[in-house]
Amino acid sequence: MIAVLNQKGGVGKTTLTVHLATALARRGEKVLLIDADPQGSALDWAAARRGTPLFPVAGMPKAGLHKELPALAADYSTVLIDGPPRVYDVARSAIMASDLVLIPVQPSPYDVWAAKEIVDLLHEATVYKPNLKMAFVINRKIANTAIGRDVAEALAEYPIPVLVASVAQRVLFAESATQGMTVYELSPGNPAEKEIDALAAEIGELGP
Ligand SMILES: Nc1ncnc2c1ncn2[C@@H]1O[C@H](COP(=O)(O)OP(=O)(O)OP(=O)(O)O)[C@@H](O)[C@H]1O
Ligand SMILES: [Mg+2]
Repeated sequence: MIAVLNQKGGVGKTTLTVHLATALARRGEKVLLIDADPQGSALDWAAARRGTPLFPVAGMPKAGLHKELPALAADYSTVLIDGPPRVYDVARSAIMASDLVLIPVQPSPYDVWAAKEIVDLLHEATVYKPNLKMAFVINRKIANTAIGRDVAEALAEYPIPVLVASVAQRVLFAESATQGMTVYELSPGNPAEKEIDALAAEIGELGP
């Protein structure tokens, strides 16, 4: 059970969730995507799709999702939760439901500062979930700039690791989403695919 969370809006939660779900489904996992955002972005993404879905997307933007999810999750090997920005009670419930929380952050000091909110929420959660795993994922890294490295250094101030795998800024992510697709389908063999595969592999190495 993996939640993709950040109280800050627009950092790439939905983009990374649908792409990770796709990467894992392509690896043969039985994936369920839970849209825990009242905006329903992952549901919109699924609705925009014409082809066959690779995995089901279910909406559950409620504070009680950790109670409802286990029964629903039983048939799946991986459940990914796309979290909402700002809504605390839903984020807290998603944390309670999860084994791993991924926190997308963009390479900007504003994102580093804003991450404090989710870091505090996670810190609170470790009291009752001492085995909860968590990691930052740098998203929208811009090639040939030092800012990605700077942000990784700045994030080291928080007691949460930064994954080695990162995702670059690529217009293909937005373009593919328009049609309810992913970079895998819109432009097979492009470098974005490798980044998402590397991210999925690194998450796999974190263990169950
Ligand atoms: N790596 C990327 N390269 C280019 N564009 C990206 C990338 N990641 C996300 N985006 C774009 O940034 C915007 C915000 O991304 P997304 O909706 O995934 O963020 P979010 O954290 O889910 O937002 P919200 O907090 O509103 O739910 C979208 O237009 C998306 O297409
Ligand atoms: Mg979103």
